[in-house]
Amino acid sequence: MHLNSLMEDTNITITIIDREDVSHEIEVPTDMNLNVMETAKASDLPVEGTCGGMALCASCHCYVTSSHELPQASDDEEDMLDQAFFVESNSRLGCQIKITQEVDGLVVKLAPVD
Ligand code: FES
Repeated sequence: MHLNSLMEDTNITITIIDREDVSHEIEVPTDMNLNVMETAKASDLPVEGTCGGMALCASCHCYVTSSHELPQASDDEEDMLDQAFFVESNSRLGCQIKITQEVDGLVVKLAPVD
């Protein structure tokens, strides 16, 4: 296989809607073990990621608005969301959503900060 097509195969596009309702389409590689929180930060979106992705701060709280079947939230993620504000049924912690081919086309909206 040609190297270029190999490299293209590793990129996906996700959309992050910021708190002003502005959509940001972001192309992100799947082979760097990134998550949605890190992707948002790398794109200069206002996501603190205070705990560094340990499911301990909820500063990466977002709403999944596309119909992707994401892996179930871990107990740690559920516990953190229990303590977060503005939680909805589609709430997730961005740091717990891994960037894989399965989330190509994902759309998330940043949750309000209190
Ligand atoms: S970065 Fe802290 S819970 Fe996601």
